[in-house]
Amino acid sequence: MDKILIEGQKPLSGSVMISGAKNAVLPIMTAALMAEGKSALTRVPDLRDTRTMIRLMKIVGATCSFKDGRLEINASTVNNPEAPYDLVKTMRASFYVLGPLLARFGVVKVSLPGGCAWGPRPVDFHLKGLEKLGAKITLESGYIIAEAKRLKGADISFEFPSVGATGNIAMAAVTAEGTTIIENAAREPEIVQLCEYLNAMGGCIGGIGTTRLTIDGVDELHPADIDVIPDRIETGTFLIAGALSGEITLNGVNPQHLDAVLLKLKEAGCNVSTTSNSITIAPAETIQAVDMTTAVYPGFPTDLQAQWVALMSLAKGSSMITDTVYHDRFSHVPELNRFGANIKVDNNTAFVRGVDELVGAPVMSTDIRASASLIVAGLAAKGITEVSRVYHIDRGYEQIEEKFRSLGANIWRENPNA
Ligand code: EPZ
Repeated sequence: MDKILIEGQKPLSGSVMISGAKNAVLPIMTAALMAEGKSALTRVPDLRDTRTMIRLMKIVGATCSFKDGRLEINASTVNNPEAPYDLVKTMRASFYVLGPLLARFGVVKVSLPGGCAWGPRPVDFHLKGLEKLGAKITLESGYIIAEAKRLKGADISFEFPSVGATGNIAMAAVTAEGTTIIENAAREPEIVQLCEYLNAMGGCIGGIGTTRLTIDGVDELHPADIDVIPDRIETGTFLIAGALSGEITLNGVNPQHLDAVLLKLKEAGCNVSTTSNSITIAPAETIQAVDMTTAVYPGFPTDLQAQWVALMSLAKGSSMITDTVYHDRFSHVPELNRFGANIKVDNNTAFVRGVDELVGAPVMSTDIRASASLIVAGLAAKGITEVSRVYHIDRGYEQIEEKFRSLGANIWRENPNA
């Protein structure tokens, strides 16, 4: 398995182009399955997860071609509404095919996603929502089987504004008979773009970007093209690296998607300036310890919690970081402590006492964002850091070591098995 090695404390400078958003393109790919014909998606990041989703597109019968960020999906040949366990277990976003394939074929078989590095991550909101739309749901040897001749619009209210459940139900409802109301819908930019894409396909969704979506069912959809939004989590990851290691500019971004993060970085003493499509960050003389609590959009994203903990481990003073979205998403903490950080976890809060220096060490990735926090820490640590199991980071970051190297980092990949 590949390792990424870093010789830390090399000052970063310059600028880098951010990639398209993984968590926007994955549901948009499954939405494209709903219409016969060819859709073209641009600014698609070349990641393990997008490659996994392309494999799933082909398993259900679509044809795909992917080159230089442009992904063409022809869904005319889709004929196998089934997502197998050995694929779903590697990427829970495969569950996004549930709504689209049920809507198009009236039946779909999708493996229940397993847990993940930090917890169970249930899908009950997805299933209850589909039942409300009239689907019959059965569980057979770890597979969900959903059936419905034609889905019927309904009033659905989520007890938590789930990103995935909002996406799945919106896709299922867009060709249902009648109107669906989703109360307490997710407002993440990735879901906003999914809804915009469904409307571009001929859907009729109102309230996009609010917590109340009104979906008037249409009879059929047609293919549509779309340019994927920039990845706000990759952007935030690089901003936090800049806060620790040097003044950098991120291009091709949407600063409005990161209001909560930019505010916190300023509170920590960083100098942040923005244009309509770029953000420049300059590190603080001394990073101030700043408490942070994650929240659904537009709050501080849980997907940047691990990276924020890494930043606070070198702050002056103590800070509390609470994750209200995933209460047990702290598998990065024991690894950060191997650098000499001083972090304790109690329930869903990390208590961080800032230290003067981190020292490079061999550490292990456990999930996409934990891996990112280890790289951010390694860039700021003295000496050599070795991050193993980097397939996790490759799931969600396109050419991460090339991008950091272009900013002046001494970072390289080794394949010990080569
Ligand atoms: C999406 O996951 C993202 N993944 C995650 O990013 C992100 O961390 C998460 O949203 C929260 O923002 C993709 O978009 C592919 P949720 P999702 O449903 O949709 C509970 C990354 O690193 N819940 O909003 O699975 C759940 O347990 C990944 O890119 C239920 O209880 O997240 C959690 O506590 C990691 N029942 C909360 O809701 C359900 O049916 C939020 O989950 C669904 C969710």
